[in-house]
Amino acid sequence: MKLNFTETVLRDANQSLIATRMPFADFAEILEKLDGAGYYSLECWGGATFDSCLRYLSEDPWERLRKIKAKVKNTKLQMLLRGQNILGYKHYPDDVVRKFVAHAARNGMDIFRIFDALNDFRNIEVAVDETLKQGAHAQGCICYTTSPIHNLEKYAAMGKHLEGMGVNSICIKDMAGIMGPREAYDLVVALKKSVKLSVFLHTHSTTGLAPITYMKAIEAGCDGIDTAISSFSGGTSQPATETLHYALRQMGHTTGLDEKVLKEINDFFKPLKAKYIAAGLMDAFVMGTETDALVYQVPGGMLSNLLAQLKAQNAIDKLEEVLAEIPHVRKDLGYPPLVTPMSQMVGVQAAANVLAGERYRNVSKEVKSYLKGEYGQAPGAVDEELIRKVLGDEKPMNMRFADTLAPAFEENKQRIGSLARNDEDVLSYIAFPQIAEKFFKDREERERRTVTYTIMKKREEIG
Ligand code: CO
Repeated sequence: MKLNFTETVLRDANQSLIATRMPFADFAEILEKLDGAGYYSLECWGGATFDSCLRYLSEDPWERLRKIKAKVKNTKLQMLLRGQNILGYKHYPDDVVRKFVAHAARNGMDIFRIFDALNDFRNIEVAVDETLKQGAHAQGCICYTTSPIHNLEKYAAMGKHLEGMGVNSICIKDMAGIMGPREAYDLVVALKKSVKLSVFLHTHSTTGLAPITYMKAIEAGCDGIDTAISSFSGGTSQPATETLHYALRQMGHTTGLDEKVLKEINDFFKPLKAKYIAAGLMDAFVMGTETDALVYQVPGGMLSNLLAQLKAQNAIDKLEEVLAEIPHVRKDLGYPPLVTPMSQMVGVQAAANVLAGERYRNVSKEVKSYLKGEYGQAPGAVDEELIRKVLGDEKPMNMRFADTLAPAFEENKQRIGSLARNDEDVLSYIAFPQIAEKFFKDREERERRTVTYTIMKKREEIG
């Protein structure tokens, strides 16, 4: 069987290991090789890349996409999109979501991997619809979690739902790396029975389970996996491309990958890794195997956030209590998957409950919005008493939150004015207003300086 490999070095590996700080200039020279390696797709945009380009790298994310497209002519480009949240944490109106997808497609994006943290598919339907309208590939995600209400039947039904929406393929997204081989096998079998679409699996090496989980998923009929070239693999990133290619070929699969080219790609990235370690961008912690997540059944990222939070409040001795409180809060909230932003919300609330010595005496703004239904439908029933306590007489909404939002593209276009040079700039501005505005101003300043310098040079030559 032919297995599809998605290379994550430019996006998820970059994001998980060095907080997305790889500038375009660092990988420009290897793009043609990446294109020639035989990957099914190259994940290179979305997630935090967009924010990081504007905030830290002084790069226009749209220009980065166009420059990648210019060099990667055969391999499909892939991005990660948070459905109605686009690349952030709040819901945007439909006109903005549609414009974003349309412009991403026009600038070269081929595969849109689209997810909602609560698996409320109303929050991805507009993005999926626009992706299909643009003639691009819509990959619908199922965010993986374990809870008393999450079972194979439910996941199979989610697959059916996504298929009904017209997605081209399905991705099981295990962002925490907590999926074990048995779970992967059973889940892929269940999905393959319920849908006719290709099923892809995304996981992380964090807990060390990933390669065995991939092997069992593939045994069950999984069509594609995400890996990272070895120098950027392991730890909080994905398992190594070369290793999985080697093992799978040994098991009689074809991967389409050319190992000579993979070696050249890895030789290119090795010194970059050394450079990032020397610059303090790559922490030894993110490179190792971290099994506490398996003991506590919470994602590694959530655990380290929790530790930082408790340390800041001089309450590190309360860790065990807070960890014991997490399942309780999660149950009260209807078992949301512990992914951003839900992992933060649940962690902060559990800590607040323990530190106050009383449940829900302090409730964050985010939990309040969640209870109102502004994030979407909770997977399970939310505790009635908690709703009454926090919302009083106010009733949670049943409708899709984005239906309450007025169109916003034109208004933002007016507001940013001539600082935005095209619609793509307006979209950057809507996604990250202050950061984009600063980026636009710096860009003008840079160009003014270049022009002045050129004029001076000319005068010198003449004079
Ligand atoms: Co990931």
